[in-house]
Amino acid sequence: MKTLQREIAKAIQEARSVSTLEDVRNEYFGRKGKLTLVLRAVRDLPEKDRPSIGKIVNSAKNELESRLEERQAILEGEGSSLDEEWVDVTEPGVYPPEGHLHLVTHAIREITSIFSALGFTRSRFPEVDWDWYAFESLNMPADHPARDEWETFFMDAPSGQKGKMVLTPHTSNSQVREMEKGVFPIRMIDIGKCYRRQSDVTHVPMFHQFEGLYVDTDVSIAHLRGILEYFAKAFFGPDRQTRLRPHHFRFTEPSFEIDVSCGVCGGTGVNEEKQKCRVCKRGWLELGGAGMVHPNVLKAGGLDPAMYSGFAFGWGVERTYMMKEGLKIDDIRTLYRNDVRFLSQF
Ligand code: FA5
Repeated sequence: MKTLQREIAKAIQEARSVSTLEDVRNEYFGRKGKLTLVLRAVRDLPEKDRPSIGKIVNSAKNELESRLEERQAILEGEGSSLDEEWVDVTEPGVYPPEGHLHLVTHAIREITSIFSALGFTRSRFPEVDWDWYAFESLNMPADHPARDEWETFFMDAPSGQKGKMVLTPHTSNSQVREMEKGVFPIRMIDIGKCYRRQSDVTHVPMFHQFEGLYVDTDVSIAHLRGILEYFAKAFFGPDRQTRLRPHHFRFTEPSFEIDVSCGVCGGTGVNEEKQKCRVCKRGWLELGGAGMVHPNVLKAGGLDPAMYSGFAFGWGVERTYMMKEGLKIDDIRTLYRNDVRFLSQF
């Protein structure tokens, strides 16, 4: 019995998993198990030996059973903690949501690259500037009614020699600032933030403009038209139409507004519900102003209008981007609502 007892104890101790332990249980404690057979054999012993031998065998059986339970508890404990700690290193990771550059930043980069291919260099100027650069030097003296169109935010700050400070309502403040650098000919593209007290389907209070300025000797409207036509084809594709419409700006003469055939309604002026297109209303959308630099502006920049001539244009970046082929953004404010459902489509 001692030998069998030792053999069983060893088998229990060496069991490394619950299933091996189950095999041990069947081998020794099962219906035909070795220990069970010994217990049964006790019944066949002579009556006088039965109680003493039965006692030994029973106590050995009880002791082995409690070892078996203990070992089972240990193995089950190890098993469950391993389950919890188990890591599948081959499983793909959890990706955090990926952002991207803002659509306006993309537009600014694309505009910059189209104009740099034409020899225009990007300049940056203050976005909080003196009245002189935003209005006065642009042939708009104080109290001139033309200023009203710019719906300007004036800063609550002391005035200087160049007047009050304003949040630039357009990028045309760059014109005289660029001339003051004294490097000619000028082929500048300035892209910056502008501010106006406006908000509707085609206006936001903070927006961007890109201002082009070309100053040299013998610059003509044909150059202006050619550059803008080139830009429109490069940005919108070959099928979209642009037109110059006579207009009036105090700082250019003659002046134009530039329209592009609307990308939202396909230039028809009517939307899919057969109603007026809410963006353009007439098939064309105004993207910017342009014209030949006014002699008074050249003088304000220290140039002799008899020698120099130039053209300038200023377009809205957001409006231009809205008109990109296939986008059909029918409210400019969508660009600044930061709605991930919209932004994640790009
Ligand atoms: C000007 O701002 C002139 N400085 C443009 C110019 C430059 C003319 C150089 C001649 C020579 P205008 O106010 O029309 O012009 O604005 C030009 C463009 O800016 C508009 O056509 C539009 O595309 C954009 N824009 C103007 N206001 C807003 C606004 N509140 N929100 C979004 N875009 C705007």
